[in-house]
Amino acid sequence: MAEQEITQRQQWDRTYESAKDFFGERPSELGRSALPVLKENGAKKVLELGCGQGRDTWYFARNGLNVTALDYSESGICQMQGVVKEQRMEGVVTAQVHDAREPLPFPDGTFDAVYSHMFFTMELSEEEVARILDECRRVLKPGGLNIYSVRNDHDPHYGKFEQKGKDMWKNPMGFVVHFFTEEAIRRLSAGYELLWIKEFEDPSPPFTKKLYEVALRKPSSA
Ligand SMILES: C[S@@+](CC[C@H](N)C(=O)[O-])C[C@H]1O[C@@H](n2cnc3c(N)ncnc32)[C@H](O)[C@@H]1O
Repeated sequence: MAEQEITQRQQWDRTYESAKDFFGERPSELGRSALPVLKENGAKKVLELGCGQGRDTWYFARNGLNVTALDYSESGICQMQGVVKEQRMEGVVTAQVHDAREPLPFPDGTFDAVYSHMFFTMELSEEEVARILDECRRVLKPGGLNIYSVRNDHDPHYGKFEQKGKDMWKNPMGFVVHFFTEEAIRRLSAGYELLWIKEFEDPSPPFTKKLYEVALRKPSSA
């Protein structure tokens, strides 16, 4: 009998079980460019979506931010909870299993900023991304920032491998990736002030990716 296809969630669980620092130990390019922006905007309480094994979470926490980090991978979050305990970071980092397709478990206006690196670029349709962005806006304080990255249509894997949906392809490692055009990002910015879209490269393992960095602001009057 053919082996049943595993879900993306199981795929991430297996990945994090087999590699302790799958994306490397260093913070991501986006994490490093976002930190000064978050600080300049006075952000203290940050929500991170799709935190993985926490390479950016630890970087933000070591640099004075209070981070609530969510991911649907139990193994990633379990590893993070171990580090929080070991390093006595309770009160600075809260790591929680949560599937972001479900409503965010926080009251309106809880966070100064929302951050995510390569999370919206996962197996999420444009409608799901739009719903999650709406949820992010709800939990942000007025004037709060939402900084995220997605792989773009200039990436070497764009249009390659097995098509899994509109602008989505499954790579040979088994990950379904959603690639975004600048036009799609502009469409998805409805309800926010779009601050910038910048192209950048992420050379972290296992291969160099081309991404857009997107910065959105929740209107102060919302
Ligand atoms: C490409 S990885 C990036 C991880 C981390 N941001 C980093 O850069 O090291 C994407 C992450 O999104 C998580 N993810 C994908 N879909 C999700 C969902 N629906 N809800 C919560 N997390 C999700 C995966 O488990 C994975 O950890």
